Amino acid sequence: MLRVILLIGALAVSPVAHAAGGGGEKLPNEHWSFEGPFGTYDRGALQRGYQIYSQVCSACHSMKYLSYRNLSALGYSPDEVKAIASQYTIIDGPDDEGEMFERPGKPSDRFKAPYANDNAAKYVNNGALPPDLSLITKARPNGANYVYGLLTGYEDHAPEGEELATGQYWNKYMDGHKIAMAPPLADEVVAYEDGSATTLDQYARDVTQFLTWAAEPEMEVRKRTGIKVLLFLSIFAFIMWRVKKKIWKNVKY
Ligand code: HEC
Repeated sequence: MLRVILLIGALAVSPVAHAAGGGGEKLPNEHWSFEGPFGTYDRGALQRGYQIYSQVCSACHSMKYLSYRNLSALGYSPDEVKAIASQYTIIDGPDDEGEMFERPGKPSDRFKAPYANDNAAKYVNNGALPPDLSLITKARPNGANYVYGLLTGYEDHAPEGEELATGQYWNKYMDGHKIAMAPPLADEVVAYEDGSATTLDQYARDVTQFLTWAAEPEMEVRKRTGIKVLLFLSIFAFIMWRVKKKIWKNVKY
């Protein structure tokens, strides 16, 4: 009985489909702290992941559904969030004279986008559009393993018989294998303050955890609620079973 309840619980709370990646290559199957019915995000990994996003990925990728104040969920204090937001210059306006003006970012501002519009983004990226990363782990099947795989899945050369155009790179997990994103990460490119390994593998894991949180910030609450509901339902079912026995006790077949 317990096993059945746990199984139903696991199915109910985990929407992860184990589909293969678009590249045909089987995706890595990493262990993530946020997997499973009791999974939670690792605050340290989220903060490091935000650091990777802000120091590397944000040069090309927007995250338009996030505001700086959302970062408080990563464990930053209100003052730290204010300090992070104020590092960015936001264009606001129009003012009383009808002019747009620049001001430091506030916690309520959305993450600043790297390009003014999609055409500008394509123009500087060889015609390829760097997608918004707010929901990327939901937009791709088996998203966390896909993003991790993509970041670690570059090959130095295309296989024999394959041609890469300028600005294209060979990636094991990209759909069609040809990707217009240069390998964004490599060992030692970002300095961590908490003593974590400064390796490509660690960076990829951390930024994947951050992007998974961004796509589903309510996941922990959702799972906790699911567990509570299941617990309530099983206790309620037990009580109802006892009630039924009691009511029908004296009735002969
Ligand atoms: C120099 C610009 C640049 C940087 C920096 C960069 N990207 Fe990209 N990224 C791109 C471009 C351009 C594409 C579109 C590639 C294509 O369609 O071939 C892309 C595509 C992607 C995709 C989507 C692949 C798909 O399935 O369509 C993901 C995921 C991604 N990048 C993640 C990241 C992450 C995470 C980082 C930071 C560690 C990062 N990128 C840094 C330019 C960049």
